[in-house]
Amino acid sequence: MNDAHSNITIERKHSHVELCLHADVRFDRKTSGFEQFDFRHNALPEIRFSDVELSTTFLGRKIGAPLMISSMTGGYDEALRLNRRFAEAAEHFGIPLGIGSMRQALENSSKRETFSVVRKYAPSVPVFANIGAPEVAGGLAESDMHTLVELVEADALIVHLNAAQELFQPEGNTDFRHVLDQLERLCATVPVPVIAKEVGCGISGECAQKLLDTGVRVIDVAGAGGISWQKVEELRYLQQAGEENRFSPEALTELLNWGIPTARCIIEVAELKKLPGCAPFDIIASGGISSGMDIAKSLALGAGIAASAGRLLVSVHEGKLEETIETWLNDLRAVMFLTGSASPEQLQKQHLTSKHRPIL
Ligand SMILES: Cc1cc2nc3c(=O)[nH]c(=O)nc-3n(C[C@H](O)[C@H](O)[C@H](O)COP(=O)(O)O)c2cc1C
Repeated sequence: MNDAHSNITIERKHSHVELCLHADVRFDRKTSGFEQFDFRHNALPEIRFSDVELSTTFLGRKIGAPLMISSMTGGYDEALRLNRRFAEAAEHFGIPLGIGSMRQALENSSKRETFSVVRKYAPSVPVFANIGAPEVAGGLAESDMHTLVELVEADALIVHLNAAQELFQPEGNTDFRHVLDQLERLCATVPVPVIAKEVGCGISGECAQKLLDTGVRVIDVAGAGGISWQKVEELRYLQQAGEENRFSPEALTELLNWGIPTARCIIEVAELKKLPGCAPFDIIASGGISSGMDIAKSLALGAGIAASAGRLLVSVHEGKLEETIETWLNDLRAVMFLTGSASPEQLQKQHLTSKHRPIL
């Protein structure tokens, strides 16, 4: 990789964190949809609050709670500190950790420690490597697949699908041809399960079915309602003196809020489990998760675990990462007690009522 290309990658990863922390980049015309649902109160929980047990299994591993720290960063100096903090928290709570796109680790070996640091501080939890759909579509070499997995001793490989982000990104790669064919090849070659995720526009039931048909084992819906990556990249585009009118103002508002709300995605993808002959798969609920109530509703809608990126990035910046996660887990315990659910598996069997009709 030449120096100019390397500098763009470093600038991009750095400015992503800065914009997510300090700019207005959240969806403003759309929510994740969780607020439209209520749990049904159980006046006879028949359990003690202290009986509530958060641990569960994910991809065959026991984890401390149904929560994951979602993929964020790596590849530049400051990412080392962030990934260390995320790894320490993941290890403390016994929860899975996704790391940011490892494209740079393939192109340039000098910043590899900013990724591998997570294994040093999170030796016992599931860690997930990460690469983008455009890189997969381009045909990853088998040696690259192994590098991604080995660098962080990954338990699974996440492939992120980010068409809207690439569309808005000043230097974006908008060639999304052959993703499914190449995913099928990847799933057959890579020695760990493959997780397909969006980055905030959501995965529909139809797309999830196509992904599962390639051999993908987990769908992380990463729906709309949290960070809008169109907004992040639009700000970068304008900062780089891009033209203000590349889209009409009317369309721009909708494009910046483009995506399927997280709750809707979970419902659609969970429906696939009811189809005859459907192979077992897991669902991660993400996109706008900002409390233990959201985690609880995710599970009741059909997810196995929930995941958060943007809110936890703010927490780490404020020096409150463990405190935030502990608060979310207490929210979750409260809901589990009030629904008489002693375990996340029992919470998954709870029915939500919708506050409005139609549901979403
Ligand atoms: C600073 C930052 C960097 C991110 N980088 C990546 C990445 O490299 N790969 C990826 O799959 N997702 C990445 N994401 C997307 C998140 O994993 C997540 O899917 C998305 O932000 C929606 O979740 P949220 O609303 O909880 O933030 C990043 C998120 C943040 C906040």
